[in-house]
Amino acid sequence: MRNFLSIHDLASLEATVEEAIKLKNDPFKSEKLGKNKTICLLFFNNSLRTRLSTQKAALNLGMQVLIMNFGNEGWQLEFEDGTIMNHNKAEHIKEAAQVISQYADILAIRAFPDLKDREKDEAELVLNGFKKYASIPIVNMESSVAHPLQALADAITIAEHRPAYKPRVVLSWAPHPRALPHAVANSFVQLMKLQDVDFVISHPKGYELNQSITKGCHIEHDQEKALKNADFVYVKNWSSYKDYGQVLTEDSKWMMTKKKLGNAKFMHCLPVRRNVIVEDEVLDSGQSLVIEQAKNRIFSAQVVLKKILEKL
Ligand code: CP
Repeated sequence: MRNFLSIHDLASLEATVEEAIKLKNDPFKSEKLGKNKTICLLFFNNSLRTRLSTQKAALNLGMQVLIMNFGNEGWQLEFEDGTIMNHNKAEHIKEAAQVISQYADILAIRAFPDLKDREKDEAELVLNGFKKYASIPIVNMESSVAHPLQALADAITIAEHRPAYKPRVVLSWAPHPRALPHAVANSFVQLMKLQDVDFVISHPKGYELNQSITKGCHIEHDQEKALKNADFVYVKNWSSYKDYGQVLTEDSKWMMTKKKLGNAKFMHCLPVRRNVIVEDEVLDSGQSLVIEQAKNRIFSAQVVLKKILEKL
C-alpha cells in the first residue's frame, strides 16, 4: 500500500483486521521494520487519540516521529496555482510538501473541513495538495470527508466483540451544540458496507449524509425502531450535509440512554460530551467499548504503517 487516504485503500479489510489483532497480541514483533525511518505527523486541528496512538504505533515499529501542529505553528499555506502571493499566505504547498519529503519517509495529516463551502471541503485541498506534491506516502489522520484510521479501529473492536450470528449495527445521530464534520460517520458507513452486518442509520430528517456514501443503506428516522435488537450502537453527531454545516436541531430526545441502548454495546470515537451525546450511565457501564476503540487506534495505525513500510 502506498497511501492510506480511505478505508478502500486496504486490499482486504478482513485480512487487515486479522493482522491488526495479531499486532495487538505482539506489538513489538516488527520493531526493526521502521529502523532509520521517520514519520512526520502534521496537525492542522486538535487531537488527543490520533496524535498519541499514531505516535505510539510508529514507535512500536521502531520509527522516529516528527510532530508539528501546523495550524498554529506553520506558515499559512497557499494551495492555488499561479497565485500572486502578496497577502497572508507565506508558503506554497509545492515547497512545503517537497521540503517535508526531505525530512520524513511517511507523512500523516489531519485537516478538518471549514463546514462553510461543501465543494471546497470535498476538494480536500490540504490532503490532496500534499498527496500531489510530496514524494512520500500520505496517511489520512482525518480529513474533510474521511477518518479511515478510526474506522479501522472500529472494525477491530467489532471483530473482537462480534457474536456468532450476523450482528445488527446501528449508526445513531446524537445532538451536539456545535457543527461537527461528517468524516467519522462517512468512514463508518463505508466500513459497514464492507461487512456482513445488518446495518441501519438513524437520524432526524435533514441530517442525511452524502447519498453517494449511504447509497443502498437502510435509513430509519424512528430511532426506537432502529435500535430494536441492536448488537452495536455507534453514536455520533454530524452537522447537516444538505444545509451544509448547519446545526438544525439539538433535540435531546436523540441522546443515547441506558434504556434505549438495551443490551447493545455502545461505541463512539471520542471525544464525547457526557449527558449531551450519551448519558453517564452508558459510558460508565460495561457495555461501553469506547476505551477499547481508543486502544485499537494504536493497532489500526500500526497495521497501516507496517503495510506502507513494507513497500518502501
Ligand atoms: N477519535 C479521534 O480521532 O480522536 P482525536 O480527535 O482526539 O484524535
